[in-house]
Amino acid sequence: MNDERFTLITEGKVRLWVPNPKNYLREDGVYEPSWAPVFYNPLQVLNRDLTVLALAVLKNSMKHPIHVLDAFSGTGIRALRIAVEIGGADLIIANDLSKDSFILIRKNISLNRVGDVVKPSKMEANALMYLFKSSGKTFSFIDIDPFGTPEPFIDAAIWSVRNGGFLGVTATDTAPLSGNRWRAGSRRYDVRILRFDVPHYLGLRVLLGYIGRRAASRDRFIKPLISFTHKHYYRVIFKVSRGAGEADRMLNSKIGYILYCPDSGFRTLITEPISLISLTSTKCGPNLKLLGPLWIGELGDSEFIRQLLGSLGNKYTYLSSYKELLNLLNILIKESALTNTFDLVSVSRTLRVNTPKIKDVLDCLKAKGFAAVRSHLCRSCVSSDAGWEDIKECVAEMARPLKR
Ligand SMILES: C[S@@+](CC[C@H](N)C(=O)[O-])C[C@H]1O[C@@H](n2cnc3c(N)ncnc32)[C@H](O)[C@@H]1O
Repeated sequence: MNDERFTLITEGKVRLWVPNPKNYLREDGVYEPSWAPVFYNPLQVLNRDLTVLALAVLKNSMKHPIHVLDAFSGTGIRALRIAVEIGGADLIIANDLSKDSFILIRKNISLNRVGDVVKPSKMEANALMYLFKSSGKTFSFIDIDPFGTPEPFIDAAIWSVRNGGFLGVTATDTAPLSGNRWRAGSRRYDVRILRFDVPHYLGLRVLLGYIGRRAASRDRFIKPLISFTHKHYYRVIFKVSRGAGEADRMLNSKIGYILYCPDSGFRTLITEPISLISLTSTKCGPNLKLLGPLWIGELGDSEFIRQLLGSLGNKYTYLSSYKELLNLLNILIKESALTNTFDLVSVSRTLRVNTPKIKDVLDCLKAKGFAAVRSHLCRSCVSSDAGWEDIKECVAEMARPLKR
């Protein structure tokens, strides 16, 4: 291509034209993808690698015709990688609203010779999803990867995915979701949240809780397969199925609240705001907060993550984020089923003790009969099925003596 704004790269097994990063450097020398005429962020390669891996596993449970929508395609990279590295799809739409993207997507499709399966499209994502749905067509998998919040696209995605189909959603508005910009987060995701001491724990649960509630409003329910935070974004992949009864059960058991005392650090997950815990038993007083509604169930499915690991070690060892993915999946396979996460630095601060070693606290929790693992949500975090009182006991027991 005779255009100096672009350069040829390889990602996964795909060759493609992307904006030449040299032309879009900030003063500090860092590439700024949003300045380029077409969006491509090399920092998101793990997100795309994982999507390839997930579809390689999910493909086996999809009925033909397999229709995939890459709704915010940028350079076309996800659609191309799904076509080249997995195969088996009957139709993959690489859609982007931008004209420059559309032109580049067409070039990248022909460069990879996948024009029989991958079709370029230049439409607003919601319009495209509703148009397909209104003509009776639904998708087996939809990838939602917009700038910032995915909120405006959740309804259409849930509506236009097939019964038993899958959605992958990326969110880069982590500050609102995690409570660091809680006013924006509360408005955008229709929740009541505040700053929380494990921000990404809150953020992933607000995102999934919102999606679950939107699904329920249309008699659909979701099952999270994998959820994680990485660099500047959240990624969740989940199954969407039809059924009013199951949607009710999801609302009653997986959507709830965090009862939280910022003074003492006490927190617990509850399904009903008033039924479980009397205000006095929390020993918090008037500062007791109720955060939610949000997702209080598992953030992922260990069996699915096990299959991802199997596939990674088998056919996908060439992925450039292989090592990082291996580490992440090995944590998530255990962490996904544990619904409590504590930051040992924060717990120690409220107890006024030195922060103990993570390993000591994990050993202490396990000795008490709980499951406990290092969390990917923060460097000093552990995830466990233990509650607040048990973690407090272990932190106090294992705390290193204060220096005089
Ligand atoms: C974060 S980028 C997508 C990056 C791409 N998925 C990847 O992995 O490289 C978001 C893209 O969405 C496009 N976009 C923004 N709003 C849109 C909308 N409402 N409908 C369709 N595309 C949109 C932008 O032009 C941009 O290319």
